[in-house]
Amino acid sequence: MSRDIIRHAPIVKGVPHLLHGGDYNPDQWIRSKDTTWKEDMRLARLAGINTLSVGIFAWAALEPEEGRYEFGWLDEIMDLMHENGITAVLATPSGARPGWMSQRYPEVLRVNGDRSKNLHGGRHNHCLTSPVYREKTLAINTALAERYGEHPALGVWHISNEYGGECHCDLCQERFRAYLQDKYGSLDELNEAWWSAFWAKTYTDWSHIVSPGSHWRGEQDIHGLRLDWMRFTTEQFVDFYLHEAAPLKAITPDIPCTTNLMGTYPGIDYYRLAQVLDVVSWDSYPQWSNTDRDVRTGVESSFNHDLTRSLKGKPFMLMESSPSATNWRPVAKLHRPGVHLLQSMQAVAHGADTVQYFQFRKGRGGSEKFHGAVVDHEGTERTRVFRDVAEVGERLAGLDAVVGTTTPADVAVVYDWSNRWALDDMKGMLQDKTGYQGTVLDHYQAFWEQGVPVDVIDGSLIAAPGELDQYRVLVAPMLYMLRPGVAEAVNAFVERGGTFVATYASGYVDENDRTFLGGFPGPLRDTLGVWAEEIDALYEDDRNAIVWNGKEYEAFELCELIHAEGAEVLGAYGTDFYAGRPALTVNHRGEGKAYFIAARTGADFLDDFYRKVVADTGVERALDADLPAGVTAQVRSDGDTDHVFVLNCNPTEARVDLGDGETLELAPHGNVVLQRPRPNSEA
Ligand code: GLA
Ligand code: ZN
Repeated sequence: MSRDIIRHAPIVKGVPHLLHGGDYNPDQWIRSKDTTWKEDMRLARLAGINTLSVGIFAWAALEPEEGRYEFGWLDEIMDLMHENGITAVLATPSGARPGWMSQRYPEVLRVNGDRSKNLHGGRHNHCLTSPVYREKTLAINTALAERYGEHPALGVWHISNEYGGECHCDLCQERFRAYLQDKYGSLDELNEAWWSAFWAKTYTDWSHIVSPGSHWRGEQDIHGLRLDWMRFTTEQFVDFYLHEAAPLKAITPDIPCTTNLMGTYPGIDYYRLAQVLDVVSWDSYPQWSNTDRDVRTGVESSFNHDLTRSLKGKPFMLMESSPSATNWRPVAKLHRPGVHLLQSMQAVAHGADTVQYFQFRKGRGGSEKFHGAVVDHEGTERTRVFRDVAEVGERLAGLDAVVGTTTPADVAVVYDWSNRWALDDMKGMLQDKTGYQGTVLDHYQAFWEQGVPVDVIDGSLIAAPGELDQYRVLVAPMLYMLRPGVAEAVNAFVERGGTFVATYASGYVDENDRTFLGGFPGPLRDTLGVWAEEIDALYEDDRNAIVWNGKEYEAFELCELIHAEGAEVLGAYGTDFYAGRPALTVNHRGEGKAYFIAARTGADFLDDFYRKVVADTGVERALDADLPAGVTAQVRSDGDTDHVFVLNCNPTEARVDLGDGETLELAPHGNVVLQRPRPNSEA
């Protein structure tokens, strides 16, 4: 079975266009509203903006006193937006609280890992357990839904803003214990799962369990506890999201709900949170530097877009991006010509049906007054950034045919939050340089360079029935933790003809972070046909090598000492006491193959290796051309027509040879969108 290549319905019913716009804070301009708001509408239209996100952080303007709502200003803005053909992404205000609430109900204030209680202020500073906070949120969300549910401008609900952080207050501790009781049933089970006999941690009363602090490692040394705390925190956000969404769903069942995510933000397992969203959205702030590093920056944002899209396997929203400088970066570099268009088209290439910004109009005060915006303090359309934004608006307006289309990927790369949490805690190997994320990105980059579309999936997704059927290649770098069912699903995938690639540091621990017994890579030992007996960590200047196909590739940092147990040895170590021992193997199993890369290598090896995998498996490439370094191609399709996005992340020109004497010239940070009938489509 392969994925259906179809056209999904547009995110906003009745708006079959790519959405273009962003965060808008009219509540900061109420005093001059008669001029400013009107001017905002004119400028928005001029920039090809058809959506604005309002109400984020507007709680103090909406409920200046407990129970007294002020909706007049929002009524006016919603009407203005409608008159100007602008879809409202309407936010619930729970990202920041008015002062009266913190003062009257101190329980709403968050308690940090070091058990200090936050003062009022900032944002993302609430206890998600607090009954008061929940009650107040429910009340204002209900009032918003009742008031604007029928408003013709309303397109999407934007729930809160960038959920994140943790609360360690007593209420949250109680809830954590209840979560554990529900999960384990008895302390006996919990003690076994957490291996808590270590350092006398055996729990003999539920009340002994406390969240891992940030000022004292004590509880952090129990890795099962840390893992469960992260899972609990994820569930807190899922639960709070559902709590916020409940009145919106009840009153406006047809309006999609989302909350804006942050790529690979470590604090929440987004695969879990995404399950409860109608549409996934995220905020992307790539750090373009106008140097060679832009290629890696491009790879990283591509990866994040692919991850975000894969969370639900359908088009997503780029909820925020900066039209120019990102003020919180240590170097708030301006976007060079082409960069803004490049990053916008890149998002669309990977499945975004929106290009939105933080922010529409720059505020006059506060810590974001120098953040890039569509409308600068100067206040007119005469700025370079405004013209850049208008150019994006124009390009997006010509791409209606892309709305709802699919990103057809034959390759899945695994990125797994639980695995990351376990590797972050692990003491051994290289500790601080374990490098999980960078390693996943290195493997991903090898496909990116070839223009091979990739989905990014979770360990638990592997184990879900049928989920792997649509892929031909499955790559799981450093899958240290194997959750239940994963090894079995991988094995079945290989047996029916799939190609699986695993690396060193795989199959060490179970879902509770307890090591497997009986040899690594644990339950994958048979599938891979190798036994990983030991792993060697190398100092920074140490080098080994993998010798493969008569070529020598550098190996560094981590070298696993493996035995082939049925696998064919393709490559061997070059030096040291394990010279000549297997370093690259393939196990032929059923109809498929399972590769094992035993050491960390550079891009030279990964490029050659994955070129071979791509050629052998015939996975889809967006463009049948040799792409120059730093240029990728991605595709979106409705099954009949392909839209191929060719993106040059280099700060220099690039040229793609399309064959038959045709070439594509790309400006520095340039991009081109090509159309063609879908190869092999019946149409
Ligand atoms: C985040 C937030 C926005 C704003 C931007 C600035 O993404 O959601 O409110 O602070 O960062 O880059
Ligand atoms: Zn709390």
